[in-house]
Amino acid sequence: MSTDPKNEKRLRKVTTRSLRTMKEAREPISALTAYDFLTAQLLDQAGIDVILVGDSAGMVVQGLDTTVGVTLEQMLYHCQVVTRGVERALVVGDMPFMSYQVNADEALRNAGRMIKESGVEAVKLEGGEKLCETVRRIVDVGIPVMGHLGLTPQSIHKFGTYQVRATEPEEAAQLRRDALALEAAGAFAIVIEKIPATLAAEIAQAVAIPVIGIGAGVGCDGQILVTHDMLGLYNRFHPRFVRRYAELGRDTLAAFEHYRNDVKTREFPGPEESY
Ligand code: KIV
Repeated sequence: MSTDPKNEKRLRKVTTRSLRTMKEAREPISALTAYDFLTAQLLDQAGIDVILVGDSAGMVVQGLDTTVGVTLEQMLYHCQVVTRGVERALVVGDMPFMSYQVNADEALRNAGRMIKESGVEAVKLEGGEKLCETVRRIVDVGIPVMGHLGLTPQSIHKFGTYQVRATEPEEAAQLRRDALALEAAGAFAIVIEKIPATLAAEIAQAVAIPVIGIGAGVGCDGQILVTHDMLGLYNRFHPRFVRRYAELGRDTLAAFEHYRNDVKTREFPGPEESY
């Protein structure tokens, strides 16, 4: 065990409780998504606080057009490989579409499978007031729940667009009610996606639980992005809220082309790479 205080701080396990402490101390929470072991290991080494095994896996890993088709078995697999790579971060598993909407009993059973079979420490589900009974049932057995409001990708066919949400007063008022209801139902945090920054900041102040924004401005208690977006790997669309911290898509393509050329011209393998 390290005695270096810096290292100890880095290794201190993130829990739902420590996220609340971070909010109280006004320390922004960093969160990113992972779907595989190696990425999860790197995120954890980088000191990212929350790793979400998002159902965005359907789009950035499986090549689907939406997250709607992702199954519970697929999420269990992604969650299992991610948790193997993580020591410090809190790992949250996304509950896929129709794994929690039918009724609270089924939701509870599926949330239990996520925790028991994959090792994630919390689950995330999309929805507010209408889902609160379900959230309460899951929290009551000891499974932490993260809510997800604003743009909720699993409802894409209902809304028909990924445009910014809650720009109209009625929808903004519903969003405020949803956030308060999730807090009252026992959710430990809320992801809030693609809504006006002023509304997100107001909600973050109105609830005691951390509000983690994606496309929701700097007034949230933390930020999350889809890792494949911020690394420049996913190019099907590029929302304004994504800042690209690398261009791995471009660099990876260049590496593949370089390798291909080396093979075709017998540049690879060289004597030092042969026996
Ligand atoms: O599935 C996902 O990656 C998410 C994030 C966009 C928050 O829900």
